[in-house]
Amino acid sequence: MAKTHARYVCQSCGAASTRWSGRCDGCGGWNTVVEEAPRESAPGGLGTASRRRSRNIEFASMDGPAEGAPRRACGIAEFDRVCGGGLVPGSAILIGGDPGIGKSTLLLQVVAALAGPAGSTAAPACLYISGEEAVEQLRLRARRLGLAQAPVLLATATAVRDIAASLDAAETPGIVVIDSIQTMFVDSLDSAPGTVSQVRASAQELIRLAKRRGFTVLLVGHVTKDGQIAGPKVLEHMVDAVLSFEGERGHQFRILRATKNRYGPTDEIGVFEMTDRGLMEVPNPSALFLAERRGNVSGSAVFAGLEGTRPVLVEVQALVSPSSLATPRRAVIGWDAGRLAMVLAVLEARCGLALAGREVYLNVAGGLRVSEPAADLAVAAALVSAASDQPVPAEMVVFGEIGLSGEVRAVSQPEVRLKEAAKLGFTRALVPPRRTRPGEKPKEKPEGGGLEIQEIAHLQDLVARFAAEGPRRQSQEPGRRTVGGG
Ligand code: TYD
Ligand code: MG
Repeated sequence: MAKTHARYVCQSCGAASTRWSGRCDGCGGWNTVVEEAPRESAPGGLGTASRRRSRNIEFASMDGPAEGAPRRACGIAEFDRVCGGGLVPGSAILIGGDPGIGKSTLLLQVVAALAGPAGSTAAPACLYISGEEAVEQLRLRARRLGLAQAPVLLATATAVRDIAASLDAAETPGIVVIDSIQTMFVDSLDSAPGTVSQVRASAQELIRLAKRRGFTVLLVGHVTKDGQIAGPKVLEHMVDAVLSFEGERGHQFRILRATKNRYGPTDEIGVFEMTDRGLMEVPNPSALFLAERRGNVSGSAVFAGLEGTRPVLVEVQALVSPSSLATPRRAVIGWDAGRLAMVLAVLEARCGLALAGREVYLNVAGGLRVSEPAADLAVAAALVSAASDQPVPAEMVVFGEIGLSGEVRAVSQPEVRLKEAAKLGFTRALVPPRRTRPGEKPKEKPEGGGLEIQEIAHLQDLVARFAAEGPRRQSQEPGRRTVGGG
């Protein structure tokens, strides 16, 4: 056999080349290229190499009967909703998240719920295969979660060939968890488990089997520092759904979010709370996110947000403090730093609010990550409130997008947001002007679900509101105008 040359593969995007380089040509990542066993000498996967004659494929019409088993809902509503109503047989789902965030705990609870009570025959057979923990450790966790009686079968294995052979055996399982895909390996490849070729080949093999035998496979994937699911992006293309499990370490809240879903929506979230008895569902996240809010403090505004179909109210906190640094610090948790810079620039350039020489901290309380531009106005309200030391009324919710000229723009589904706010006892709302579609008669009064609606057309009006009331106490920087314009 001719000598095969080494192959260098980027661990982030999967691009291969014949020489090593410090920077990947494919994705531009630094230090991501690693030498791997050559492809030529090792066919990826376990595929049978039989040469068959070609056959004609069969086509079917679109309106045929819906085939296959229905979705399997596990009964944990927060999980089922993110999946789009339950697990689709024959599908592959990737669940990513930081180490220790609770992926194993969540999946153990999900399979236990799917397996049903001990002795049930209607439920699908559920297997949990771990490459990271021994069976005894898994049992310990199950006991701690009060799930020791659930008819889930546990195993420790890392060789995909063994797993595939066992899964292919006579009785087809319903649900299979692989924890984690980074520990799995295919013995026809020389590279170590966790490398891009191994992750890809192992996933390919397991997904192919799942499609062929009609079981659902749930793959756990670790996440790298920069928040990507470790291993190749190609893994995300191979699976039917990608769920990410997020949360701040110090907080007990965990959020499950679908970033890709072939069988459901991608904007739904599931909210859980990590307790000493496992993950508990949080059916009403707003109440929890607002639980520790103190009324009548400056720098705090309640944002009426929307996560998928669900309204979620969160508190946005801002702190503006004098700085001795040449470049004052700007720190943001739970929101986009670029978006904060934009809101600050608009406040400065369009409303004359001097923030350049001051440190700015922004925090979304409770550990939720807000990605909606609709939070702009709430962020601006928190900032202006902090800068002027004038609280936003405690009974007020805020939402609206801000444009670069300082105009406040309409956001989607204001009614849903207002209804949730009313349900939680809020009585006032600061909102963008109502958008009237061409040909539509403007309504006399916006539907506010009983809330007192205050429309705000420009950020200057917001700044003016706070300036009119004046600071509660003397500013720390006499002579410096903190709030102006308007
Ligand atoms: P785990 O599911 O092992 O995380 P992952 O698989 O994502 O790495 O969860 C680990 C953390 O969860 C660990 O720090 C302990 C905590 N935990 C609880 O707080 N309560 C529980 O009931 C369980 C099982 C874990
Ligand atoms: Mg784990």
